[in-house]
Amino acid sequence: MGVDRFDGVELEYLKQILARGRLSGQGDGFHGKLEAAFAEAYGVKHAIAANAAMSLLISSVFAAGAGTGDEVICDPLVQFHAIGALWQNCYPTFADVCPDTWLMDPESARRTISPQTKAICVTNLWGQPAELDALRKVADERGVVLIEDCAHAQLLPYKGKFAGTWGHIGVFSFCQGKHMTTGDGGIAVTDDDELAARIRSVTCFGESPPHLATVFRMTEMQAAIGLAQLEKVKGYLEEYLKSYAQLSAAIDGCGWLQPRAIRDGCGNSPYIFSFAWRGDDHGVNLERFKQALFDTGDTWNIGFTQVPAYKYKLFTEPLAYQNKGCPIHRCPYYEGSYQYHDGLCPTAEAILPRLVNHNCMLAEEQAKGVGDRLRVAIEATERG
Ligand SMILES: Cc1ncc(COP(=O)(O)O)c(C=O)c1O
Repeated sequence: MGVDRFDGVELEYLKQILARGRLSGQGDGFHGKLEAAFAEAYGVKHAIAANAAMSLLISSVFAAGAGTGDEVICDPLVQFHAIGALWQNCYPTFADVCPDTWLMDPESARRTISPQTKAICVTNLWGQPAELDALRKVADERGVVLIEDCAHAQLLPYKGKFAGTWGHIGVFSFCQGKHMTTGDGGIAVTDDDELAARIRSVTCFGESPPHLATVFRMTEMQAAIGLAQLEKVKGYLEEYLKSYAQLSAAIDGCGWLQPRAIRDGCGNSPYIFSFAWRGDDHGVNLERFKQALFDTGDTWNIGFTQVPAYKYKLFTEPLAYQNKGCPIHRCPYYEGSYQYHDGLCPTAEAILPRLVNHNCMLAEEQAKGVGDRLRVAIEATERG
């Protein structure tokens, strides 16, 4: 990480916790302060902190009213919501992505909605917003809940509002590699009182839980560090935007590398810098490019996961619940007919092996170095 992320503020807050002698709790202390500050920063009524974004995705699927026999539309480029759906015994279905942004295509989401669908989970992947207004319209028209996965989308503007506030629920991650971190942790935001109460009712319970719940509580130490990080994250993002510009400039004008589009009205919270390999259309050798990238000494990733989430064994085989087959392979409550197959999300299948990614949460100077070496790699590849 190229930007100093921790300073005396975190330490001061941690000392206050130890002096108070209360390391966990909800409502008061740093837990309550973080929730209030996050809600204020995003202009929402509710912010619910928990031990991980994953816990909040699981809770959000429940809050959306999705359960056994229901479908949840997920993003094919990542697996997180599909796993969240499995935890609620739901059948994950998948909407395709757009070929220029690698973000969920609202029309594909619309086509994927069935009578069983209860929620759409969209990822604002790698710091760029999906078409959140269009997705919200689709969700509202069909009476399903839109859950935004904002793990990569801190303070990300989209058409005048932050990503995370277009959906009925927005879920943020504070795990180690994110824009702001508490080690592990996450927060869900919503303006809806009932959704907020339902999420809270899963993440923590008293004597007699009203339904299946668990303890996904965030500790005071995590909340304190989160509060300190929230106060600084805007500054980190300003630096990462400069880094993004450095990396973008490096591929500018290269006819065989496709930049990732940032459409009108879309902001950028740089997380991963991504572009697509198109060398095969231009007679450029992929192995040569891979070697040239390797020679830079930087940590480039080519092809990301290679295949969409619905090709993972967790979904294609009955692994989720002790090989019993629930909820995808054998569920007496499932009345739909959805099946995974090759070509289910053709754009996701085509784009994934082409993706070339590098961490973009770098100090500008560091990013300039990565960009300069990338340019050298491009030239070396062209020389053959
Ligand atoms: C897109 C996305 N969603 C959800 C998560 C889960 O976050 P957490 O580790 O806080 O559970 C991650 C973590 O890397 C992620 O990248």
